[in-house]
Amino acid sequence: MSSETFLLLGILLFAAITVIALLSYYFPIHPLTHKHIRHRTTISGIRDVLERTRDSQLQTRATANQALEHAFGLHPDISTFVSGDRETNDAFRRHAYRLISNSTFVELADIARQAVDTTLANYVGDIPYAELIQVATFRFVVCGLLVPGTTPDELGHTHVREATRLITAIWLLSKQSSANTTYLRNQLKDHLDALFPADPSIIQLESLNPIWETFWRVVAPLFAQLRLGGSRLEDTRNAFEDFLELPTTAQFHALRCNNTAPSAKYASLEALRAWSPVSRIKRQHTTTHESRLTRWFWLPTWLARRITSVETTVDVADIEAAHRSEYWAVPLPSTSSTGPGPATVGVVPPDPNVYDPSRFLLEPQRAADVLAFGHGPLQCIAARWAPLAIGLMVGALLDRINDVESRLVPASGAGTNSPGGGASRDPKGWEGWRVVKLQQREQRPFGAGAASPRGV
Ligand code: HEM
Repeated sequence: MSSETFLLLGILLFAAITVIALLSYYFPIHPLTHKHIRHRTTISGIRDVLERTRDSQLQTRATANQALEHAFGLHPDISTFVSGDRETNDAFRRHAYRLISNSTFVELADIARQAVDTTLANYVGDIPYAELIQVATFRFVVCGLLVPGTTPDELGHTHVREATRLITAIWLLSKQSSANTTYLRNQLKDHLDALFPADPSIIQLESLNPIWETFWRVVAPLFAQLRLGGSRLEDTRNAFEDFLELPTTAQFHALRCNNTAPSAKYASLEALRAWSPVSRIKRQHTTTHESRLTRWFWLPTWLARRITSVETTVDVADIEAAHRSEYWAVPLPSTSSTGPGPATVGVVPPDPNVYDPSRFLLEPQRAADVLAFGHGPLQCIAARWAPLAIGLMVGALLDRINDVESRLVPASGAGTNSPGGGASRDPKGWEGWRVVKLQQREQRPFGAGAASPRGV
């Protein structure tokens, strides 16, 4: 081989090494990417994950929620769900407390009634069930929490309907990592801004999403179950209707029929067990190590440093699985009633797959095992408030969709025991379900309620 060929080979080799070095500098090489998923399906396993320190959970929650952050364009300086920062967490929690203190329960009962009335009045023929619940709960959340002082009939129907449709569409797309949601996001912003033209940015997705998305997802199956549950659930329907008439915490907690039937509180809690709107809580840890390749091959240090292996561990707190597990079917070891309900030693609890609020009447201690609001340092700040708000919305729906003014009609072939099936978090699970109007009704005057203590 001539010396020119050697020189040429040398130059090519040098050029190749330089290109690799530059590429690996800007694009680190991860030849080995490991992903472990640790599924927790028991109450104690879930508690273990959610009891870790606040700082570590903020970080690992933000990492797990990256797809949601990008899909909705959430700001990490506002939303604690996509930020690892302690101050953001403090500020977000304070803001959320203010929101649930904006209206009294008496005011919220009026808002719930008007949210249902206005929604029903905006349709002419049959109403798709999921859409009705989404629109009515959106009006309730906006007027009761986010923009106090506004009434549900002030919100333009088309904008509300489109906003709820777009949030759901973006949420579904967030499950596909490569999806581009910019177009839908822009449309969503236009509809939200159009609701309050004088103050277009008043509704922030960072606040709206975690409240509304959880709300409609539990109200939909609960109302459907109650309306179609026949005589077995008559007491429970009455509990919600009475709570709407007298929206006090005492009424919410009161056991019924001489302490032999569950309260509205147990009925709401049982809905959160049976159809937990947050089905899984994830914490994702990512660690980067120098690749094991470097153990087997000699590589120059600068290159070895650029070749890394990434290890991702996702802890999945599967609340849905824990809430439906056999744990709920086996009597607690020394079951004795702590409340005013009947003594229950040795009583076999109801089937975990059946909505039956009497399980808490039989074993009141189980109330603490409902993990729908999470657990530990990042537990939902509305864990005590939201069950009452759900009760008011369901009471207002029962009051109007009552087989006289309008009727809930399930999809053909749908069972009534588990409405919407496992897909109830996605409106598609409610396809074919509708509310049929039977009679016209005059709208109720708004604001008839008396003053009462604040909602918290
Ligand atoms: C049915 C209704 C609701 C359910 C099922 C629910 C559920 C949850 C869950 C499971 C978490 C914990 C998330 C995690 O550990 O990563 C959470 C956190 C939170 N929720 Fe709720 N939520 C509801 C309603 C609300 C409402 C009405 C508000 C306030 C206006 C609210 C404000 C918050 C806040 C601020 C956090 C974050 C707590 C923190 O990170 O320190 N939630 N919620």
